[in-house]
Amino acid sequence: MSRQRLEHYLEQMTLDEKIAQLLQLAAPFYDEVGDEGQITGPMESLGITVETVHNVGSVLGVSGAEKVISVQQSHMKNNKHGIPLLFMADIVHGYKTIFPIPLAMGCSWDIKLAERSAEIAAREAAVSGIHVTFAPMADLVRDPRWGRVMESTGEDPYLNSLFARAMVRGFQGSDLKNDKERVASCVKHFAAYGLAEGGRDYNTVDLSERQLREYYLPAYKAALDEGAELIMTSFNTIDGIPASGNRRLMRDLLRGEWGFEGVTISDWAAIKEMIPHGVAEDEREAALKAIIAGVDIDMMTSSYVHYLAQLVADGIVDEALIDEAVMRVLQLKEKLGLFEEPLRGADVVAEREIIYCEEHRKVAKELALKSCVLLKNNDVLPLNKNQKVAVIGPFALSGDILGNWSWNGSTELTKNLAESMKVISPSNIIIAEGCSIDKITEPQIHEAIKVALKADILVLALGESSEMSGEASSRSNIKLPEAQLQLVQFMKQLDKPMVVVLFNGRPLDLHGVYEEANAVLEAWFPGSEGGVAVAELLYGAANPSGRLSMSFPYAVGQIPVYYNHFNTGRPKPSEDTTEKYVTHYLDIPNAPLLPFGYGLSYTSFTYKDLVLSSNEINETDSLQIKVKITNEGKLSGVETVQLYIRDVSGEVVRPMKELKAFRKVELAPGQSREITFEITEEHLRYYHSDFSFTSDSGRFELFVGPNSRDTMNAAFRLKK
Ligand code: BGC
Repeated sequence: MSRQRLEHYLEQMTLDEKIAQLLQLAAPFYDEVGDEGQITGPMESLGITVETVHNVGSVLGVSGAEKVISVQQSHMKNNKHGIPLLFMADIVHGYKTIFPIPLAMGCSWDIKLAERSAEIAAREAAVSGIHVTFAPMADLVRDPRWGRVMESTGEDPYLNSLFARAMVRGFQGSDLKNDKERVASCVKHFAAYGLAEGGRDYNTVDLSERQLREYYLPAYKAALDEGAELIMTSFNTIDGIPASGNRRLMRDLLRGEWGFEGVTISDWAAIKEMIPHGVAEDEREAALKAIIAGVDIDMMTSSYVHYLAQLVADGIVDEALIDEAVMRVLQLKEKLGLFEEPLRGADVVAEREIIYCEEHRKVAKELALKSCVLLKNNDVLPLNKNQKVAVIGPFALSGDILGNWSWNGSTELTKNLAESMKVISPSNIIIAEGCSIDKITEPQIHEAIKVALKADILVLALGESSEMSGEASSRSNIKLPEAQLQLVQFMKQLDKPMVVVLFNGRPLDLHGVYEEANAVLEAWFPGSEGGVAVAELLYGAANPSGRLSMSFPYAVGQIPVYYNHFNTGRPKPSEDTTEKYVTHYLDIPNAPLLPFGYGLSYTSFTYKDLVLSSNEINETDSLQIKVKITNEGKLSGVETVQLYIRDVSGEVVRPMKELKAFRKVELAPGQSREITFEITEEHLRYYHSDFSFTSDSGRFELFVGPNSRDTMNAAFRLKK
């Protein structure tokens, strides 16, 4: 359909009809329109008319082909222009086949598999009638107290950008119009939502332009460069102005500097929330600020539908601003082929065949296998099928391992850990609950001790319930709940080898667990096939290969603690220094417990012969970096070889290390491989004091290793 055709629609519409295109309603609306056409239930409080509902542009959270078809069909009857509804939803880590949470996926460092997971999520969502997913979440996070850390791929701008791009490719494919098994992608939450002060959700964000551009913006930009069709505002302020009314962010930077032409949408009620933020007296002022800033769709408030028309009539808002926003919404509908096929991919038969099919679950399992991170292993893993294993803890028999944003997932269908271990070792698994997530009783303790005493080895299945991370689920104490720490203490007294498997949504403070256990496997919320995957990892049917995409703090008092920090003018020479006037804490180390990039395997790898092709490059050369990796153990395994760089004399201070490249290599026992990386001047660029993105001549340090801490070093010079 040509642009003229879309403009024709625009010309036919009244101002009110146009503004209704900019409203997004949530699913309950479609259950709350009474027989007489009146709106009932909680949705009545929005105070909108049925006439508005008939002209609404998009809906959020309605899914299932049958329901979508019926809502769309009745909408098409009621909308006099024949403009179809857009169906949007949060398909963040799967629709019904649930993949590991994004933070876990980040730990896979497997970009291709992430893309495939998004493709599958899109496929299941599309046959269920969804057109747009509110994903990927590209927020960089350095604070594990923030509950939404589970939705992020971690603390590194480079890795986050790779994942953001992969997710967009997977969701959208290359032809949204003809490929009806893809959905449009809405990257969120623009911008810097992950920096909420104190890790408290919805809290103030305040950062320098340098921090914003260097760390927080790259992953959103990467998603847009990959073609994401939409972007969602964040709830927070940026430089004192809420994102949804932030003209510099939404219009000058996003549209002007980056040239983004897709749809912008507020987060849930974020336009109206400019009132409590303290930048709008009322909804009228909030609507005015949002439309001027360039927010196209108002998610779930009636600020636009109630006030924009009057603002136009009063000559305060130029109708051209509204036309521009409506045009973008119509263009998105057109790109998705909705004018020709309002039902698009919604298909009751395909839904039955595709959703949660074996092929999809296989990929979910593969990603779960690659996302788990072995944090410690004092020779107790892998388990042996002949060992009597006591599986104890609240996650032994729990299907609550899908994580947040699994609203279509089924915990009943999900195989739990103990059940999955029994498949591998049918007669040697004994089970006790031990405690619930946050309570422990005498009978539970007795039962756990009784069961544990019969076993050769204990597997404690511990963690956070899925409700303990995600939106509005920040925690100040990020240790395991006290009841579980007590269970660890009781079990420790039995003097049996003890493995801890963790199911959780954030890097935890592992005091009370890490020292006590002989092995720790971080499983995160591993999704639909997570129980099966973890069981296979425990028994060595698969070898752990995940690497942390976010540091695990030594203690909450260190937060934010991240690998790409500055050195300061008084660096601490070593963790056991007695020097006073250096940057340090009196009571805890500076370093996190476990650094970015860290993860163990059942085999061991050595790094040798780090060789650079030259000790100097110029603007046109490239530098080859070679290193030899050997699998010294008895099992095949995958190593993630990481390359970091430091500019030691930037015009602006540069981080101690910055991830520039990595390579996953699979090696058989005894096998060696030479890995080659290539670095050019482009890798050395950053934002200077005038915000030019350039490099400095001079000395650079280069690090290669299995994580951001344990590296081999070399150096070279850039000559310009
Ligand atoms: C969340 C978004 C989500 C939206 C729609 C909001 O509360 O912040 O991430 O996309 O709801 O469900």
